[in-house]
Amino acid sequence: MLGSLRFRLPALFLLGILLAGLVASLISIRFFQSYTRARAIDELRSESVGIVQLYAQQAGRESVPYLRLVHALGGDRVFWVPVARGVTLLQGIPDVPASTVDMKALRNGRPETIDLDWKGKSYLAVAQPLELGDNLFGALVVAKPMSQLRSRSVTLVERLGLAFGGGVIVAGLLGFYLSRRITEPLRKLSLAADEVAAGQYGVELPNPRGSDEISHLSGRFADMAAKLAESEQLSRNFLMSVSHELRTPLTAIRGHVSALREGVIGDPSMREASLGVIGEEALRLERLVGDVLDLAKLDAKRFTVLQEEVDMERLSERAYAAFGEEARRRKIDYRLDVRAKPVIVTDGDRVLQIIVNLLSNAFRWTPEGGRIELALSAENGSVSVAVADTGPGINEEERDRIFRPFWSRDGGGTGLGLAIARELAVALGGQLVLDSKPGRGSRFVLLLPG
Ligand SMILES: Nc1ncnc2c1ncn2[C@@H]1O[C@H](COP(=O)(O)OP(=O)(O)OP(=O)(O)O)[C@@H](O)[C@H]1O
Ligand SMILES: [Mg+2]
Repeated sequence: MLGSLRFRLPALFLLGILLAGLVASLISIRFFQSYTRARAIDELRSESVGIVQLYAQQAGRESVPYLRLVHALGGDRVFWVPVARGVTLLQGIPDVPASTVDMKALRNGRPETIDLDWKGKSYLAVAQPLELGDNLFGALVVAKPMSQLRSRSVTLVERLGLAFGGGVIVAGLLGFYLSRRITEPLRKLSLAADEVAAGQYGVELPNPRGSDEISHLSGRFADMAAKLAESEQLSRNFLMSVSHELRTPLTAIRGHVSALREGVIGDPSMREASLGVIGEEALRLERLVGDVLDLAKLDAKRFTVLQEEVDMERLSERAYAAFGEEARRRKIDYRLDVRAKPVIVTDGDRVLQIIVNLLSNAFRWTPEGGRIELALSAENGSVSVAVADTGPGINEEERDRIFRPFWSRDGGGTGLGLAIARELAVALGGQLVLDSKPGRGSRFVLLLPG
């Protein structure tokens, strides 16, 4: 609980606010203290000047008070008037030792500020010279108890504390609300991740279409879950298809073998036919296992391709020749169009495998009397081998599907041909693209680096 983001976020938020508030308060208290001290000194100064002038006037008018004053003050003595509230001149003022005041500074005309301690109380005081003509005979010290200054600071601290407390409560609530808004979708996302980890892909995700980072994460997570579900479905289908494809020839082989063993087939020509079927089905099994293995290796990127010089014209001719007989038999207008004669470094057998695959599909889907063209060309540093036919073409929805393993429109083939061809093309550094218009035939193009 304490380690969770739901707790840590608002806690961090509050801590930051507390620290910022504390620093701001300390700084403002310090400023306030120096401001009140400066103001108090100003006040004391003007008060002391006033009192000194008052004495000077009295001294000018009446000789007695002046003399009394001179007598009372006597020589280099310092007197002070503690001021509690405003200026109060107390009678019988106690004296302060002369050493407290820097008389030299006063003589030079500088009023002095002093921090005084008297009867266990501290005072802020200002000393003002008492002069008679040119004769400096003492100093008048006007003081203010420090506690008075402090009480102002205390009031400020109380108010600041109050404002601070209020601010912290508001910020705390805001922090709690904001962090909930941030962590709630994260919590939902993490619950969704738990479900996906447990194999439950149909999860509900928080606002995957918003514009913030969490929505983006949520959206990508939804895509990921969908891809995982699809890939699980694909691998399940793959396994089922492989077992199905393996079982069909095996069933045929077993049937013929047991018939032969039980002597059910007596006729030698029938026995020959049975053996022929067994041979063909075994070959089909071998091809199928080889294809599945190829696909698995291609998928795991553990497929090794040779690097040899390949004359693409000769290779195209070989592929073309393989279907010459079938074309003649089915009256298909079958052409080879060589527009360039590139020699490239690649794996010749694999390229041939891809072209033969494309041609075999074209022959499977092109009706009698149709047209099939194998064209070789080279441009912009890439070699292209195109197989075009006048079959039924491939519609929009099938465009991706036909490249998936075991997807076959009529179930006549294993559906591995194009899947392997595309992976092979990629392994050779090229690509296999489809350009087909439904009803007007298909055109598969193998592009290889030149
Ligand atoms: N030239 C084409 N014209 C129309 N449809 C095609 C053509 N080539 C491929 N297809 C479609 O793509 C599907 C997949 O082709 P692919 O070569 O992968 O498998 P297949 O031919 O059915 O089986 P395999 O090649 O493994 O014997 C085919 O079943 C077919 O529906
Ligand atoms: Mg095929």
